[in-house]
Amino acid sequence: MHNTVKIGNDLFYVGASDRRIALFESAFPVPRGVSYNSYLLTDEKTVLFDTVDRSVSTQFFENVRFALGGRKLDYLVVQHMEPDHSATFSALLSAYPEATVVATKKTASMLSHYFSYPEEKVLAVGEGDTLSVGKRTLRFVLAPMVHWPEVMFTYIPEEEILFTADAFGTFGALGGGVFADERFEAEFLPDARRYYFNIVGKYGVQVQNVLKKAAGLKISLVCPLHGPVWRENFGWFLQKYDLWSRYVPEERGVAVFYASVYGHTQNAAEIVATALAGEGVPVKVYDVSVTDVSELLSEAFRYSHLVFASTTYNNGIFVNMDNFLRDLAAHGLRGRKYALIENGSWSPQAGTLMRGILGSMKDMTELGEGVTILSAADGAAREKLLSLAEEIAADFRG
Ligand code: FEO
Repeated sequence: MHNTVKIGNDLFYVGASDRRIALFESAFPVPRGVSYNSYLLTDEKTVLFDTVDRSVSTQFFENVRFALGGRKLDYLVVQHMEPDHSATFSALLSAYPEATVVATKKTASMLSHYFSYPEEKVLAVGEGDTLSVGKRTLRFVLAPMVHWPEVMFTYIPEEEILFTADAFGTFGALGGGVFADERFEAEFLPDARRYYFNIVGKYGVQVQNVLKKAAGLKISLVCPLHGPVWRENFGWFLQKYDLWSRYVPEERGVAVFYASVYGHTQNAAEIVATALAGEGVPVKVYDVSVTDVSELLSEAFRYSHLVFASTTYNNGIFVNMDNFLRDLAAHGLRGRKYALIENGSWSPQAGTLMRGILGSMKDMTELGEGVTILSAADGAAREKLLSLAEEIAADFRG
């Protein structure tokens, strides 16, 4: 049965949420599910903004049919053709064969890699192009690499509505209300941060470019393809995006990440964390073998100071720490202060190897010279850990 929400004049939310999905993009745990948003505008012409993932297709088609109220569909605007938004593209065109597809040439080409469809149905649009649909105008704003190369936003100047594709999206299913002001900061912010850094975070420059374009627009309603719709206090979220896309730490504090097999490296990490907390420094501690790497990555981007502690394993960095550090490098972490702790019962070398990965990242500064532990952190090793904590605390205060 249909389940739509009227979110503006002649504008309906027709998307749906999936709470059974375990891994978004087969990689990111989504215990709170995810929503696939789609919007229908019923002006003199009817316009659908994107389709949805196959997992919610039944609900989606019931919603579209209801919101159309017996009218035909005139336009399908494809702002982002990644399959979580286009898996139902062919089925939509079969159900509404009269619809014209509004998309960039790049989108049309990429759609043809996935689907066989009549390309003469495409109305190609580009940066700044407009399409009148009655009382309203659609103006198209290209947003390449936020998150794929073909992405575009759509702006409706008459009502100051911006459709933003993946940008300003978040993990997390919707429940009842669809508006961010209903509960965003308490419920969605950690998932929004994790979504941003894992999905879009590599493309900070491109996000900055599109934020500059958006800065010139009056915006009253923001409609992303995942997560809640923004009608209030969007500036607060925009500020987060600005910080995130400039790689500026959102919070001053220390995130301690450790990889420990028998608990000794954990103990070393906890000694540093306890000393930092005793100095009044905000600190969080993560076991990289327990916390999912998507959350570790999000927290590393969040904080100003990072500590990595790893046992040596197979003459290398412990596997989960190695994976985490390479993920950080792949996502372009930069501009952080970091400190290293290595452990090894006969040939410790995780520190040197971790330094090699972190040193390849932009604007990274190591504090101290690293602490080496030969199994248990007692005696001199403990003193060195306390000295390292003091050095981090001094930098934090300075
Ligand atoms: Fe939600 Fe890049 O797809």
